[in-house]
Amino acid sequence: MNKQSFPHHMTQAPSVPGPHEGYMPGFGNDFETEALPGALPQGMNSPQKCNYGLYGEQLSGTAFTAHPPERTWTYRIRPSVKHSHRYTRIDLPYWKSAPHVDPDVASLGQYRWDPVPHSGESLTWLTGMRTMTTAGDVNTQIGMASHIYLVTESMKDAYFYSADSELLVVPQEGRLRFATELGIIDLAPQEIAIIPRGLVYRVEVLEGPARGFVCENYGQKFELPGRGPIGANALANPRDFKAPVAAFEDRETPSSLTIKWCGLFHETQIGQSPLDVVAWHGNYAPLKYDLSTYCPVGAILFDHPDPSIFTVLTAPSGMPGTANIDFVLFRERWMVAEDTFRPPWYHKNIMSELMGNIYGQYDAKPQGFVPGGMSLHNMMLPHGPDRQAFEGASNANLGPDKLDNTMSFMFETRFPQHLTGFAANEAPLQDDYIDCWTDLEKKFDGTPGKK
Ligand SMILES: [Fe+2]
Repeated sequence: MNKQSFPHHMTQAPSVPGPHEGYMPGFGNDFETEALPGALPQGMNSPQKCNYGLYGEQLSGTAFTAHPPERTWTYRIRPSVKHSHRYTRIDLPYWKSAPHVDPDVASLGQYRWDPVPHSGESLTWLTGMRTMTTAGDVNTQIGMASHIYLVTESMKDAYFYSADSELLVVPQEGRLRFATELGIIDLAPQEIAIIPRGLVYRVEVLEGPARGFVCENYGQKFELPGRGPIGANALANPRDFKAPVAAFEDRETPSSLTIKWCGLFHETQIGQSPLDVVAWHGNYAPLKYDLSTYCPVGAILFDHPDPSIFTVLTAPSGMPGTANIDFVLFRERWMVAEDTFRPPWYHKNIMSELMGNIYGQYDAKPQGFVPGGMSLHNMMLPHGPDRQAFEGASNANLGPDKLDNTMSFMFETRFPQHLTGFAANEAPLQDDYIDCWTDLEKKFDGTPGKK
């Protein structure tokens, strides 16, 4: 059989986009895909013998009795247990997991960082991960961590999976390829990817250096928020999420597989690529999503809603309405509200807010919050527009106004976020951020009618 005749088959590690690229639309769909004709059993999951001599194996992302259960059936060259030998603990000192409370670091405060610069050091997806904050507890599967990644090198014959977490990847610079067991996702700024817990993959640099943000979700999976009275459409629409088509590697070469498990990293040596799934079906799959397809809904007369109106994805906690994580997007939109202070108002929240700037200028902070930068407004700490934003918005001529060239996001969690030593001491923390509110004036003098 001429393997080259099948477009989804790779005999070599891919280095350029090729004909294997392809995606299937729909969030949480029950997908099916095969890279070789007839590789996917029809009408059943576990035939006595699979076609091509493949092994059938189920990957479960939820408990069997969860509703709905999420699982994927894979048909692979070898069962995964062949990709799992004895493990050796390895150290990735910059990738931290909760609980990680550094006694020498004050997490109570309003913090903002310039973009973490590339160092010139050769860094992969694993060695280039820099944890900024952690929240909750990885062992009890609640909470999250936020990371910056700085990636210059592709993983070569090296693979990874996180048993701890689902990863939400938000690129800001450069292009990455996630070659996963279930297919290939190419990712560029303005897109996001969701890499499920337990899925094996390799990250390659298509265009570097690459920098971006990661939300590591220890808890329940991300889902689309209920739209309530908004109805059946708008915000993030399910069809705009894309799962990859099957693509496999039949490649025998010494390789390493790293596993993140309970906050620790372990490595095992294997003799082949573990990306050997020829066909699969199911609803537990990696996804990508183009943030430019997010349809924002907002104020059309006066005031504006809470930023929950901009939720792209939510990862529920055990208590309805209090998310383990909300992923919130602030993108281009029209501002039309009359007699209204249009930027975010001053506020103090139980949720802790970690923001990142993908591109452009954020309306509450015209200066200082730059693309690649981050800010943290932790649990129950007040914040809001700086003086420039306040004065500008208070005195603006309120015609229809388009916020253009702006894309920032928030990882918001019900848990307090603890800074790592890297975030406090090595990342470019803006020492003067707290001063952005210093020159807000007292305007009150008791005069009735004064505005
Ligand atoms: Fe806020």
